[in-house]
Amino acid sequence: MKSKITLSTLQRMKVAGEKIAVLTAYDAAFARLAESAGIEVILVGDSLGMVVQGHDSTLPVTVEEMVYHTAMVNRGCSVPLLIADMPFMSHGTPRQALDSAGKLMKEGGAHMVKLEGGHAQVETVRHLTDRAVPVCAHLGLLPQSIHQLGGYKVQGRDSRSAERILRDARELQQAGAQMLVLECVPEVLGEEISLALDIPVIGIGAGRGCDGQVLVLHDMLGITPGNTPGFSRNFMADTGSVEAAMCAYAEAVHNGSFPAREHCFQ
Ligand code: KIV
Repeated sequence: MKSKITLSTLQRMKVAGEKIAVLTAYDAAFARLAESAGIEVILVGDSLGMVVQGHDSTLPVTVEEMVYHTAMVNRGCSVPLLIADMPFMSHGTPRQALDSAGKLMKEGGAHMVKLEGGHAQVETVRHLTDRAVPVCAHLGLLPQSIHQLGGYKVQGRDSRSAERILRDARELQQAGAQMLVLECVPEVLGEEISLALDIPVIGIGAGRGCDGQVLVLHDMLGITPGNTPGFSRNFMADTGSVEAAMCAYAEAVHNGSFPAREHCFQ
């Protein structure tokens, strides 16, 4: 049996230049398949609000629903590091964030929590990490801010917003974040941030220079209703089974063939 993936494993992979494969999962069956495909990190994303629950955004998802899905994923795998998303309005204050994170870790079995946001989240990240809650930050396109952003658009295109994302990334690392998800930014910015930080940077539409990649399970299987995002790839189309698609995804991330140029924003 493979040994458990920890934050130290991922840190070592970053230093060695080995790419990290991350995939979302929302229940035990898919978690089991992701584990046997060699996925290092499973993210129980609040994307479940859209791909599982059928909402048109992630905003309605509750902490209780995240705990429910995280516990299912936890029962399906034992090797990957397990990250649970902190849903919208679950981390408005450091105290509320600690309460939500506590539930995700104690009842759901998460090893780490992920929260969206930059400078405004620095105090919360410090509060959590000072109290033994490992935090993955999330910058770039923030789906929980969709109404503020006015749509699912690439972020950091102009030099001012690119500098702000880089500055936020440094601040969040300084506050104790041990991983960063970077969503929908130009490839050059994804590479710059990955080189600037000591912690692993996991991209989704953030180019080939990131330390690892994450995709939403349903996008990767080509079963998301509507259009699959341009940064994603339908791995099921070439493989024919969920199991083979997950193996192909893990292999493509590990050998650097995914993402290809056409999945990146220039
Ligand atoms: O909720 C989610 O699945 C995510 C990924 C898009 C990174 O945050």
